[in-house]
Amino acid sequence: MRVVLLGPPGAGKGTQGQALAVHYGIPHVATGDIVRDQIARGTPFGRKVEAAIAAGNFASDADILYWVGRRLAEPDAQGGYILDGFPRDVAQAEAFDAALSAVIVLDIAEAELIARLAGRLVCPVCDAVYHTDLCQPRRAGVCDNDSTALVRRPDDEPEAVRNRLQVYQTRTEPLKAYYERRGLLRCVDASGPPEAVTGDILRALSTSLAPERVF
Ligand code: AP5
Repeated sequence: MRVVLLGPPGAGKGTQGQALAVHYGIPHVATGDIVRDQIARGTPFGRKVEAAIAAGNFASDADILYWVGRRLAEPDAQGGYILDGFPRDVAQAEAFDAALSAVIVLDIAEAELIARLAGRLVCPVCDAVYHTDLCQPRRAGVCDNDSTALVRRPDDEPEAVRNRLQVYQTRTEPLKAYYERRGLLRCVDASGPPEAVTGDILRALSTSLAPERVF
């Protein structure tokens, strides 16, 4: 099972990626998490991209392809993976020479995205995702998994969100047609509660899974 989750900022790729990874027993590989981890550890790559990421701009294709390649070569990814945030444009999709089972598009209105990002809280240790109103942790401000204090992402500030939505429209949206042409695209309404969206994704995957193919 090799699945790509596609959708605008705040659509729920991280939330659903974590749920699907548990369901299928395969890793959730999120390029945003990889980048944020590098920034938090102050690595040369992290220092290089920190300002661009905070403003909502992309890291370079070469860097992203390197880190994705490394992650997918690890033993736990040999049985499949849930990709979140990658490929992010047609150039990355063309460079990513892998067999895929399906590409799930999380479909949602822009007003809902802005509300979700405005209240998002994340765990800087395990990358769990919460919301101040919509997906609250058991104890306010603290991660359910490891009791770490939750933080806001710098790129969730309103100006960065506006830029990310625009970058999504111009760079990522064309990927839908790219994967549609390859018969891999499945659209799911992402506006319901998280568990309902997970159920819809599982149904989409079980009823219409394409044979894995190389392109
Ligand atoms: P990335 O982390 O991938 O950011 P993104 O694509 O903008 O997506 P988000 O993480 O903001 O949203 P999400 O869809 O995961 O939603 P979530 O589940 O958190 O990338 C960050 C940056 O890294 C990029 O801007 C770029 O700079 C760089 N980068 C990453 N990949 C790259 C690549 N391939 N190439 C170049 N650069 C790259 O949910 C959002 C909120 O809504 C949460 O609060 C959650 O609790 C809540 N929520 C989720 N689902 C529901 C629901 N069903 N109902 C109610 N609330 C919900």
